[in-house]
Amino acid sequence: MHRPSLSAGLLLAVILNIHSTSAQTSSPKRGLVSVPVGPASDERNWDRPGSSITWYYNYKAEPSQFYADKTQEEFGFVPMLWGATSGTDFYDSVTAQIKAGRNITHVLGFNEPDGPTQYGGSNILPSVAASVWVKNIEPLAALGVKLGLPGTTGGWGGVPWLQQFLGNCSQIVSAGLPEKKNCTYDFVNLHWYGNFEGLASHMGTYAAAFPNVTQWITEYALDNQDLQATQQFFNMSMEYFDRLESVGRYSYFGAFRSQYSNVGPNVVMLNNDGNLTDIGSWYLGGSATGIDPQSGTKVNVGARSGAGASAAVLVATWITVWVSTLL
Ligand SMILES: *[C@@H]1O[C@H](CO)[C@@H](O)[C@H](O)[C@H]1NC(C)=O
Ligand SMILES: *[C@@H]1O[C@H](CO)[C@@H](O)[C@H](O)[C@H]1NC(C)=O
Ligand SMILES: *[C@@H]1O[C@H](CO)[C@@H](O)[C@H](O)[C@H]1NC(C)=O
Ligand SMILES: *[C@@H]1O[C@H](CO)[C@@H](O)[C@H](O)[C@H]1NC(C)=O
Ligand SMILES: *[C@@H]1O[C@H](CO)[C@@H](O)[C@H](O)[C@H]1NC(C)=O
Ligand SMILES: *[C@@H]1O[C@H](CO)[C@@H](O)[C@H](O)[C@H]1NC(C)=O
Repeated sequence: MHRPSLSAGLLLAVILNIHSTSAQTSSPKRGLVSVPVGPASDERNWDRPGSSITWYYNYKAEPSQFYADKTQEEFGFVPMLWGATSGTDFYDSVTAQIKAGRNITHVLGFNEPDGPTQYGGSNILPSVAASVWVKNIEPLAALGVKLGLPGTTGGWGGVPWLQQFLGNCSQIVSAGLPEKKNCTYDFVNLHWYGNFEGLASHMGTYAAAFPNVTQWITEYALDNQDLQATQQFFNMSMEYFDRLESVGRYSYFGAFRSQYSNVGPNVVMLNNDGNLTDIGSWYLGGSATGIDPQSGTKVNVGARSGAGASAAVLVATWITVWVSTLL
């Protein structure tokens, strides 16, 4: 939710780099941030036949019930260790899934460890995260699993947090590591809420801090803007990600109905009746539907989630509540 000030040099580089190539309709990079806050039927949109979405994550170690029957080739699951855990449950879960035949190729580190829990962040000290990583994530590298660094917020604090985390990691001699050894990783994991220039600048900041490391953009949207600007951002960013070799994968934040959005009503892929919006349809590789994100009938959120819950914070709240069962 933060907007670092824009680097003019980077902005210029980005503008000069923009070509008028037509948007790609499908991409092996394209993924789903699974946030099942509406009716279960909504979730069937994302893995429908012909969908351009090839992988998903759900902030958890284990696949969603909705996609449990899908093989990795059909709809690839990427486990995430959301927050700190005292034991080795994440490692145990991933290795058990691999043993059971699920071809897990990538895992994601902590969710927004530099961010507060009321916005879905896991708020972990770098030193704590390092000890959890060494026990749960680092050993997966030996099994050929690619490791994603913790997915920091779009704020300025992400890079310093990661540097402290890596510094702490290299101080640890324990649990499976025979000697002091740096933690390893295969890709960095970014979040961004804001405009396109800010996104490109943020990616530039991470490219400078982690040179020649593949980037995954695992939450992004232009939040709280009108529909035209929101769609323009959506188009530009997806075209950019599809084109850049340094972007390994991306997953747009908006796979839910408008009424549940905590990032503004227009980012979403579904209206309040569960119909695909233009963005929803484009993300799946289809054409515009003309459905206004804010159209349709809102359900009584208070009745669903308990008195006092505001629709505006529902998504973040749900993420926090439902991953807290992991802790
Ligand atoms: C797992 O998936 C990767 C990437 O798609 C593939 O290269 C590899 O051969 C697969 N491994 C197994 C055991 O199916
Ligand atoms: C470890 O992390 C702490 C913050 O949790 C930081 O103050 C310290 O500098 C880090 N240590 C190293 C060696 O980077
Ligand atoms: C750990 O990383 C630091 C910083 O990149 C580097 O200077 C150091 O040599 C590395 N240590 C080991 C044991 O690889
Ligand atoms: C890393 O550098 C090589 C050689 O310049 C380049 O081909 C590759 O695309 C770069 N990878 C990333 C992730 O930037
Ligand atoms: C976004 O791209 C679609 C085609 O994928 C196009 O129809 C639409 O006009 C574009 N919208 C904006 C605002 O650029
Ligand atoms: C929107 O969804 C509702 C409920 O599933 C359905 O009855 C309606 O036909 C859909 N409208 C459009 C325009 O797709």
